[in-house]
Amino acid sequence: MGAAGLAEVAAGDGLGPQDARDVVLRAEHVSVVYDGDSPTRAVRDVSIELRRGEVLGIAGESGCGKSTLAYALMRMLRPPARLAAGRISFSDGTGAAPVDVMALGPEDLRHFRWTKLSMVFQSAMNALNPVTSLRKQFSDIFETHAPEMRRDEREQRSRALLDMVGIDPARISSFPHELSGGMRQRVVIAMALALQPDVVIMDEPTTALDVVVQREILDEIERLREELGFSIVFITHDLSLLLEISDRLAVMYAGEIVEFAPSAEVARAPAHPYTLGLLESFPDMRGARRQLHGIAGSPPSLAGEIAGCAFAPRCGYAFAPCASTTPRLRERSRATGHAAVAGGSSDGQAGRVPQTWSVACHLHDEELCPAGPPRGLDGGELTGDGQVVNRRPDGASEPSAGEERR
Ligand SMILES: Nc1ncnc2c1ncn2[C@@H]1O[C@H](COP(=O)(O)OP(=O)(O)OP(=O)(O)O)[C@@H](O)[C@H]1O
Ligand code: SF4
Ligand SMILES: [Mg+2]
Repeated sequence: MGAAGLAEVAAGDGLGPQDARDVVLRAEHVSVVYDGDSPTRAVRDVSIELRRGEVLGIAGESGCGKSTLAYALMRMLRPPARLAAGRISFSDGTGAAPVDVMALGPEDLRHFRWTKLSMVFQSAMNALNPVTSLRKQFSDIFETHAPEMRRDEREQRSRALLDMVGIDPARISSFPHELSGGMRQRVVIAMALALQPDVVIMDEPTTALDVVVQREILDEIERLREELGFSIVFITHDLSLLLEISDRLAVMYAGEIVEFAPSAEVARAPAHPYTLGLLESFPDMRGARRQLHGIAGSPPSLAGEIAGCAFAPRCGYAFAPCASTTPRLRERSRATGHAAVAGGSSDGQAGRVPQTWSVACHLHDEELCPAGPPRGLDGGELTGDGQVVNRRPDGASEPSAGEERR
């Protein structure tokens, strides 16, 4: 598949007018730096958009900048973190002009947080104040963000929220240490939903829980989303989980988004070698048994500039330009394998529909890689055992690091 006519875009740009109205939260070219002797560039020129009602997954290894991006979206960065560049905007869906989140004054920002955008923080269930009852903790939220509520209304609403997440409202007098981990996580989710936000950012909301409780919480989140209609940014390093629960997926590596696409299509045929590596690292719960492969090596330091592709030292497909030229996230289309709908466009292959896709990899750059990406990264199906045929774009026949790895 060629890359002709590619334009450098923000992930998700190219939306039609209707889709553009459907975007509830948009980040454009966001960069975050942790200042210090050797500043850490934790988020590097990230652009994403969240559509109304969708679950957007953000995946990537530990330290790739997921939580930092979440804090930036919430405008909750604290020194030494600083937004070095970028814009974040929010649309309420009424057709009014999007709100520039960075321009909000302190009062508007307090109202914005939790009523428009709320967050379930990483490890939040362990951060609940252990010496304060649930009643007091819910009450504090309402006193801060909805001071007009009367005391009896706060009590009623707090009980309703507990009930909504499957906790007996009588537990409102309990202290966090009297609850199981799953119950504490439900409380944290109820708190995030207390003011009926349009968007909830969930940072590793189930990572600390055993798989049975994790499943219960995920089902609960999905039920609540259907009932209340909020959108979710769901962050985790667990790609297989994200593929199951998210509509679209952004894969982060070293502070950048390297692939942004519909989750079902990522599962079927990833486009970036890192995404492929992640997929091969996790067991497929529903698919055939297959051999798992980790990704050798470790991510680069985020202090300072990174020459060329940040993934190059670990990439089995690396070729000459990767060491010196930085790949940019670019939109392209590929066949999805879905049946063509009446009136829809076709790419000439019977039953296949072009799907917008964004990927940052030279293998998908027609000028640098005229032969196109190798099988397994070209939109063709992954085989059940995760095997892909490795074909180096420079035509060399010896096995690449990726083949040796297998
Ligand atoms: N307070 C801080 N000061 C300096 N550097 C920081 C600080 N907090 C995070 N970082 C660095 O920023 C980078 C991104 O961290 P972040 O916590 O956003 O990653 P993450 O993807 O959420 O990781 P995890 O999966 O472990 O939660 C890391 O390299 C980390 O070391
Ligand atoms: S740009 Fe090169 S090193 Fe980076 S992922 Fe693509 S092939 Fe690998
Ligand atoms: Mg994190």
